[in-house]
Amino acid sequence: AKSRHFKWEVEYMHWAPDCVEAVVMGINGQFPGPTIRARAGDNLHIELTNKLPTEGVVIHWHGISQFGTPWADGTASISQCAINPGETFVYRFKVDKAGTYFYHGHYGMQRSAGLYGSLIVEVTDGEKEPFHYDGEFNLLLSDWWHKSSHEQEVDLSSNPMRWIGEPQTLLINGRGQFNCSLAALFSNSSSSQCNLRGSEQCAPNILHVLPNKTYRLRIASSTALASLNLAIGNHKMTLVEADGNYLEPYSVSNMDIYSGETYSVLFTTDQEGSKNYWISVSVRGREPNTPQALIILNYIPTSASNLPNLPPPVAPLWNDYNYSRSFSSKILALKGSPKPPKKHDRRIILLNTQNLIDGYTKWAINNLSLVLPATPYLGSIRYGLNNAFDHKRPPENFGPDYDVSKPASNQNSTYGSGVYMLNFNTTIDVILQNANALQANVSEIHPWHLHGHDFWVLGYGEGRFNEKNETQFNLKNPPLRNTAVIFPYGWTALRFVADNPGAWAFHCHIEPHLHMGMGVVFAEGVQHVKKIPNEALACGLTAKMLMNNVHK
Ligand code: C2O
Ligand code: CU
Repeated sequence: AKSRHFKWEVEYMHWAPDCVEAVVMGINGQFPGPTIRARAGDNLHIELTNKLPTEGVVIHWHGISQFGTPWADGTASISQCAINPGETFVYRFKVDKAGTYFYHGHYGMQRSAGLYGSLIVEVTDGEKEPFHYDGEFNLLLSDWWHKSSHEQEVDLSSNPMRWIGEPQTLLINGRGQFNCSLAALFSNSSSSQCNLRGSEQCAPNILHVLPNKTYRLRIASSTALASLNLAIGNHKMTLVEADGNYLEPYSVSNMDIYSGETYSVLFTTDQEGSKNYWISVSVRGREPNTPQALIILNYIPTSASNLPNLPPPVAPLWNDYNYSRSFSSKILALKGSPKPPKKHDRRIILLNTQNLIDGYTKWAINNLSLVLPATPYLGSIRYGLNNAFDHKRPPENFGPDYDVSKPASNQNSTYGSGVYMLNFNTTIDVILQNANALQANVSEIHPWHLHGHDFWVLGYGEGRFNEKNETQFNLKNPPLRNTAVIFPYGWTALRFVADNPGAWAFHCHIEPHLHMGMGVVFAEGVQHVKKIPNEALACGLTAKMLMNNVHK
């Protein structure tokens, strides 16, 4: 294993991600941030300096367990204090498992501002992946608004709430086209054909492939809002990895991908070599108002400037949830993967609702809308600072009379900052229960992401979860993941072992939803956490504690 050192500066810069100039949050002058490549077992040292003039920053390493380093998880108010302008924080952690990951800002709406990049962990020297490929490409997917993330934040927190709407552009590796389309020739919309030289910041990546080879495509979705569907014209794909865990190979002609998920897919270049093909990314799960993102798969030696002669692949209808459910439920663990414990020690049922608090639109879990405290949980729990957050236990379930198929009879809710304290090394079931939103006949998709752990996805169901549904759980080959979706009006059952000392966020990965309170905090084994670096504690009550210790 190696130590890999990086020196990063986060700053605002002018950039034209979709050919329209804007201000993005970049790292070392790059957008998206630099791609990290490491091997399983390596230790990463990322020295992060905040060059934003007037706001704090943190970076979360999405999918990395942070076992033994919970203070390096990069979640403001949970694992550490935000890094102030001009200050440097060193993230030191081990990447213990090969797979496709990414990193992103986890303070306010800094992911929407463009703070993200890829993190790829290859197998250790001498180890082999359980599949073969000749080359690989990496696609980091995101969505982009022309309104700044600060303005979005104010809009969402206004009374009445002003919804941010659908993104203007989908980006692939930080590149998209707002004013033109690569495939205007094939569409009946009024958009004009793009006329790009290739050197523009918004010029699409081109994937150059040789005929009759197998390629690995690593895909991660860092979208703020959009659920996506990806397809390669004329080519089948085989899913082999999700969230850093191997899958039973699953062959598809297109795939859904939700915010917070990562995949590896294999495809073989077995099509006519004198042509090029489209790779398309489209919005699903919400009525789309954003054009497809497109890139070209170029068969060498065909010229990359030859446009494919067929229209780009079209995604299944945005509201074809049966399609999505069937896609998701066929994702299963590779034979030989770790199996879930047969029984759970505790089952927490989390109802997802949209609510009003004094006229403000919020999301709540069992009627509590998460508000992050000034002192990060990790430090306040470790040092027993009792005034740092609500000590009332958040509810384990919701009322038996609640009808998930209709708007709530009482749409009010309250703010909360409580923690689900989990007994160390116990097995926890979480049932995520979807419900109707404020408006009748509306229930949205929410991709839930857990920090510090992978969970087994035991099953999906429709309507209200009932203890009898347990008989439907897949205990044989459920996939291990760190993100799982709940479908409209449905439930999703997860199981994990609380074996990672620390305080961990569990939340909807749609950034505006998290911002409106859609999350909870789990903590376990915090007494086993070794000395937390002072730099992670220099705010709120932990800062006071440090000062008192110095003066004693
Ligand atoms: Cu990728 Cu807490 O998020
Ligand atoms: Cu959500």
